[in-house]
Amino acid sequence: MARYRPRVDLDGIDPNRIPAHIACVMDGNGRWARKRGLPRTEGHAAGEEALFDTVEGALELGVKWLTVYAFSTENWKRPPDEVRYLMGFNESILTRRRDELNERGVRMCFAGRRDWRVPKRLLKRMDEAAALTASNRTMTFTIAFNYGGRAEIVDAVRQLVDERVPASKIDEKAIRSRLYLPDMPDPDLMIRTSGEFRISNFLLWEMAYSELVFTEVLWPDFRRDHLFEAVREFQRRDRRFGAVEE
Ligand code: IPE
Ligand code: IPE
Ligand code: MG
Repeated sequence: MARYRPRVDLDGIDPNRIPAHIACVMDGNGRWARKRGLPRTEGHAAGEEALFDTVEGALELGVKWLTVYAFSTENWKRPPDEVRYLMGFNESILTRRRDELNERGVRMCFAGRRDWRVPKRLLKRMDEAAALTASNRTMTFTIAFNYGGRAEIVDAVRQLVDERVPASKIDEKAIRSRLYLPDMPDPDLMIRTSGEFRISNFLLWEMAYSELVFTEVLWPDFRRDHLFEAVREFQRRDRRFGAVEE
């Protein structure tokens, strides 16, 4: 398995306490564009470099799971032109980037509602990228698309009802096993860019005990060094999971 050699200074990061799963809310594309007098869509386009630099950084760190929030179930409220742009843009990213991700040993997964609004062509690209990279093990890169944390829980409950699972058999394990990606571990670290201090319906179930790191950086300006800084911050935290220190 290809192990990435650190190219940059990882000074101050303990290699034995790298978060296994990092989740990112890639926010601030519109404001980045507005600051430059550009249409919002240019901000989304500029976010691509940020995303792939972050993927490289995660590989350098040896992160096993990276999940990014690309389109929420609430983002359909945006102007139709922007929504259309985002559908086409995501389709084009998958087509243009899947081979290089595959060569890096990255497995691609998708989390979100499939049977609601997403164009068939985009679903097809997702399935192709997932199939192409299915046996890769270096890192699992999940794109949350048409994803909502509440929708995910609703969908899990619908499945339980469809399967006629009795109330006495419903526990956390029963719900977890019906989430979009049952094998995905909970994020250890969640990073949100653009100075907003909220979750915006991302991974509600999974982030129960995630460490949250917020940065003022707008997503198109985010680079692997910001990722490393967030990991340093993560390593300064004291995770207790409700228990008391020994
Ligand atoms: C995040 O950037 C990208 C998506 C939600 C698709 P925004 O488009 O939300 O940018 P701001 O928050 O308006 O600056
Ligand atoms: C969250 O950002 C969704 C994504 C990054 C895909 P939003 O920009 O949609 O969140 P709000 O509206 O500021 O809460
Ligand atoms: Mg936003």
